[in-house]
Amino acid sequence: MANIKKLKLLNNIQFIYEIALARLELQSFNPDLKVTNDFREFEIKDDGNFNELKRRLAYFKTVNGEYSDYYYLQEYNQTKSVNQFLTHWIYPYKGKFHPQMIRALMNVIKIKEGETLLDPFVGSGTAVLEAQILGVTGIGIDISPLCVLISKVKTESVDVIDEIKKYKDYYLFKKNSKEPSDERVKNFYKVAEMMAHSDQSRRGRNFDSSFVNDALKMIASVEDYSNAIKKHNLKIGKTKILEDDIRKIPLKDESVDGIITSPPYSIALNYVANDAHSLKALGYDLDKIKEDFIGVRGTGLNKFELYDKDMEKAYSEMYRVLKKDKYCVVIIGNVTFQGQEINTTQNVIDYCEKIGFRTIKKMEKIIYGLYNVMQKEYILIFQK
Ligand SMILES: C[S@@+](CC[C@H](N)C(=O)[O-])C[C@H]1O[C@@H](n2cnc3c(N)ncnc32)[C@H](O)[C@@H]1O
Repeated sequence: MANIKKLKLLNNIQFIYEIALARLELQSFNPDLKVTNDFREFEIKDDGNFNELKRRLAYFKTVNGEYSDYYYLQEYNQTKSVNQFLTHWIYPYKGKFHPQMIRALMNVIKIKEGETLLDPFVGSGTAVLEAQILGVTGIGIDISPLCVLISKVKTESVDVIDEIKKYKDYYLFKKNSKEPSDERVKNFYKVAEMMAHSDQSRRGRNFDSSFVNDALKMIASVEDYSNAIKKHNLKIGKTKILEDDIRKIPLKDESVDGIITSPPYSIALNYVANDAHSLKALGYDLDKIKEDFIGVRGTGLNKFELYDKDMEKAYSEMYRVLKKDKYCVVIIGNVTFQGQEINTTQNVIDYCEKIGFRTIKKMEKIIYGLYNVMQKEYILIFQK
């Protein structure tokens, strides 16, 4: 049967939600598919879009015997973790997305090259970097100046890799006298410094040697990225990162083609305390900054009320800026407070449906956290 094509999953697929997403992403290109070989392979009828599949798919190692682009891209990895390839690993931010999931979701919501993806809680920048790699325009917003800085460095450094290397001696060995004028070069070394602060405060490492090690490894990753673009002929998307508040998104009505985001899970994680060392090193007043962080504002039970009100504003804003018929993906989990589970997920669905979204999918996602604590998250797909 010459007109059947076989697709093999990547070797590192281990969760059911990954297989489910793999099927969904493939289905969005070719609805007529078959799962074979105990969920390790898929079969589709040949419809001539072989190159597009090879170029876009996230969870597949081979398409008709040829390696996918993403298989190659994941090989550019300076770390030991499969998820931390290219510049994804930069800064140990808690609660990063898996990059593979973002790429698959972009396929599921059918976002095309040149269209615009928004992540209004951009955090460490995973979604905008993945958009960039796929040739999609990425807009990232975060209230945290540290997140804005990290996201910029992950996506902008590749444009100034030669300048970054030129100033290596100046920053690492205090040689050369003049400071660079390019903001992107300064930002790059600022993030290396923030990583060294983190190594020092979280792992008790020596600041100076951490700074040198982190900066060198970051340079190697940006070079990897630069080489990957050339070797695999990647068309890189434009990126815009804004330090702003989701409760008032600085974008026009119906201006984005898709949203993929993960808000703070109720009051589960204190993003200010978590990155206190870096925010302080950047010169911020933590008490002041805290006032605008969703899930951190307020005290006691008032915290929950503020969270709900803030998130209603956030979802309404996301609805406003999204084009009609387009999709908004929210990754969210329930948290337990004083022994009681808070059903944040259902609250999101109820509110989003109230403002006009249709729920297309609620996909369960189990994650194994630290000390093997099992945590459940959901991938919610809404359509406007
Ligand atoms: C779950 S994290 C996002 C992590 C991200 N998906 C990643 O891959 O790194 C949630 C983010 O929401 C941000 N945030 C909190 N309040 C905000 C607000 N009012 N406006 C925009 N972002 C806010 C926090 O700074 C945090 O980075």
